[in-house]
This record gives sequence, C-alpha cells and structure tokens, in this order.
Amino acid sequence: MKVNRLLLALFLIPGVLSAAATSDWHMEPMDPDLENVPSLQNGARLYVNYCLGCHSLQYQRYERTADDLQIPHEIALENLVFTGQKIGERITNAMDKDQANNWFGVPPPDITMVTRVRGVDWVYNYMKTFYLDESRPLGVNNKVFPNVGMPHVLLDLQGVQRSACIQVPKIADNGGEMRDPLVPGKPITEEKCGQLVLEDGTGLYTAEEYDQAVYDITNFLYYVSDPSRLERNRLGVYVLLFLVILFVFTWLLGREYNKAVR
Ligand code: HEC
Repeated sequence: MKVNRLLLALFLIPGVLSAAATSDWHMEPMDPDLENVPSLQNGARLYVNYCLGCHSLQYQRYERTADDLQIPHEIALENLVFTGQKIGERITNAMDKDQANNWFGVPPPDITMVTRVRGVDWVYNYMKTFYLDESRPLGVNNKVFPNVGMPHVLLDLQGVQRSACIQVPKIADNGGEMRDPLVPGKPITEEKCGQLVLEDGTGLYTAEEYDQAVYDITNFLYYVSDPSRLERNRLGVYVLLFLVILFVFTWLLGREYNKAVR
C-alpha cells in the first residue's frame, strides 16, 4: 500500500511542478515568418541590445546569423558583435553565473532553444505581459510566467503596464459580444480583473510598434532555434520547381511512348 502511494506521489510531482510554471493567461497567437528578413534583422538587433547581456545563444554563431539574415560581415561586426568577439565565434556573453544568481535568484538561461521548449506563442506573450507589481523583488511580475526572476528589460520601449479590473464586453454562448436589448448597439459589459492596462505615453513605442518589436525578437529566436529551417524552406521551393519541370518532361516522354505503343 505504502509503495503504491509513493509511486502515485512520484507520478504527481511533474504535474504539480508544471502547473506551478504555467498560467491561465489567454495567449495571443504568434505566427513566425522566416521569409521576412527585415523582421529577423530587427529581431537580431534588438536581441544583441536588450537580451544578450544576460542570455547567450551558445549554439549559434555570428557568422551563420549574418549570412542567413543577409547582413554583410562588416556591418554585422559593427552592429551585432559588441563583445569584442570574432565573427566566427558563438553568440555568448560574460555573465557570471554566481553573480547572476545573487541578482535574480536564478541565472538567466541560454535561450537558443526556448521557442522549441516553450513555443513561439509563449515567448511572444511573455515579452508582452510584464506588469508593475511592487510586491516582487524587481518591481515587476509577468502574466505567463508568474513570479518571474527577470526584470522588464523592454520597459522603456513598452511603457508601464498595470494589472487591473476593467469593463469588458460580455461574451454570449455563441461566442459573440452581448448587446443590450433595450439600447440598440450598446454592449453589455462585465468587470474582469487581472487585465493588463498600458499607461499612455509612458513608452517610446506605440502599442503596435511594441508588438512588432516583440514579434521580431520572437521571430529571430524562432530562426535561431533551428537555423537550417530557413535553408530547408528555400531549398524546398527549388525542389518543388524541379519536380514541376521534371513532370512536364516525364509527361512528354510518356506521350511519345504511348504513340509508339499504339
Ligand atoms: C538583466 C538580465 C536579463 C535580461 C537583459 C534579459 N533577461 Fe530574460 N531572463 C532573465 C532571468 C534571470 C530569467 C530567469 C527567470 C526565472 O526563471 O524566474 C530569464 C528568463 C527568460 C525567458 C524564459 C526562459 C525559460 O524558458 O524559463 C525568456 C524567454 C527570456 N528570458 C527572454 C528574454 C529576452 C527575449 C530578452 C531581451 C528582450 C531578455 N530575456 C533579457 C534575465 C534577463
């Protein structure tokens, strides 16, 4: 009996752990686009400026990044490599793990693979849902990663967000917004708490510009998690073209054979 209980407890541990790390935040979908080279370039630029100080991309080299993102090497060296490294080196930083532990409670992980582990939606929403929370050591909390140990590094760009109770349209069972039957067009609202409200004018970017910036960073991290995906996509087009051309000749050849047989 005891053994059974022990086994049951062991099985439950992963569930409890993952439940603690997830939230019920309604995720906005993020659709990566590796064909959008300007987005990837901007994502790389933002990454080295705002993230690399803490998060290395140790499985990725500058050279490969520059080549894949169509950035000439001299421009990459000037604008992406701030660490005095050479273009052939991996994208790393000089963060001291012990010190980082003291500052944040956890060392910032390498995030080369984060879009594979967490998914692109998660990373995109994570970057969008930092909000003011004075009870936390760094003054901010996060909706998709509750009690996170990372500061809101894009605060200057996004501006101040708070978690508040606001009036939102009530949703009917069929998924549409409910309307007041007496006043035409007037929506029926309900109070919903824990919603994010951005304080106007506190960030350098507008809400749309910020969404785009976060999209670009996530898109770049998506590329980094599997750089050959870009190559495969491009190659795939040529393979399909080749098959189309081959089909034409095969069809013509088939027609000649048919003539001969008849
Ligand atoms: C000042 C240091 C610092 C900077 C700069 C920073 N982060 Fe973080 N980040 C952290 C720490 C610390 C954690 C771990 C948080 C935890 O586990 O509670 C983290 C966690 C993360 C995670 C979650 C990793 C996981 O799977 O648990 C992602 C994604 C992330 N950061 C992305 C970014 C991006 C993108 C940027 C740049 C816009 C950035 N970070 C800039 C310190 C930093």
